[in-house]
Amino acid sequence: MAQATIEGQVALITGGGSGVGAESAKALADLGVHTVLTGRREDRLREVSESLATRGAYVAADITELDTPQHLVTTTIEQFERLDLVIHAAGAFEKRSLEATDAEFWHRIIDLNLTAVVALTRSAWPHLIKTAGQVVLISSAAALRGFAGNAAYAASKGGMNAFGEVLRVEGQPHRIRILTLSPAQIDTELWDGRAPDAVRSKMIRPQGFGHLVAALVSSDRSIDYAPLPIQTPTDPWSAT
Ligand SMILES: NC(=O)c1ccc[n+]([C@@H]2O[C@H](COP(=O)([O-])OP(=O)(O)OC[C@H]3O[C@@H](n4cnc5c(N)ncnc54)[C@H](OP(=O)(O)O)[C@@H]3O)[C@@H](O)[C@H]2O)c1
Repeated sequence: MAQATIEGQVALITGGGSGVGAESAKALADLGVHTVLTGRREDRLREVSESLATRGAYVAADITELDTPQHLVTTTIEQFERLDLVIHAAGAFEKRSLEATDAEFWHRIIDLNLTAVVALTRSAWPHLIKTAGQVVLISSAAALRGFAGNAAYAASKGGMNAFGEVLRVEGQPHRIRILTLSPAQIDTELWDGRAPDAVRSKMIRPQGFGHLVAALVSSDRSIDYAPLPIQTPTDPWSAT
């Protein structure tokens, strides 16, 4: 894969204090990218930020609050004077049957996994136009396949995939690249208390996923990617 240099670029990463967001930050910093991490837990953001190979920043905030997306972008521009990459890794995975999917639950999942993604992308867009930047949408295999209990989660991630396809078209005149990734199980804290160690050991390694994100955004810009399903070689839940 031909490399496009991303050294010196600036990434705004939601969910940057853990899992996919933290591992993407580490892999990107190793390529010389400056990061602005966000999430609600300040201690986690500080810990990750201080471990990175490049100078970074972090903002503790709830992404679902109305003012947060613009605040994150403003802070990024104040600190680094540019924005090249937005990595949308904040999200919640919670299962409930359709019968138990009341309005409060529905809005909580959709507000975080979809509405906040739209709002942050919208705030970042003028800056991404200036840098011919890239948007990475961490969607899910649940966007592509039905699993029981996933009505709200699947709708949020399916909405994310559809949003990404609109962005792909609207971004073309500005040479903005959209990467929609639909992974199966990744062994992050999202699975704490939900899967035994034997199953978790067969899930995608979060470090590997972070490296994949960094490889994709640093790949030659003559390449565009259709939404990418990403899976394990074998089903982690199978007995073999
Ligand atoms: N792990 C998997 O198997 C898997 C598979 C497919 C897709 N995904 C997707 O990958 C993304 C990352 O998940 P992960 O696996 O890395 O799990 P994770 O470690 O639980 O990451 C979720 C992140 O979202 C942040 N977050 C949650 N609510 C927030 C809010 N209201 N405001 C701001 N930040 C918030 C959390 O930080 P705070 O709690 O500090 O706010 C956390 O850093 C999610 O969108 C998930 O749906 C995961």
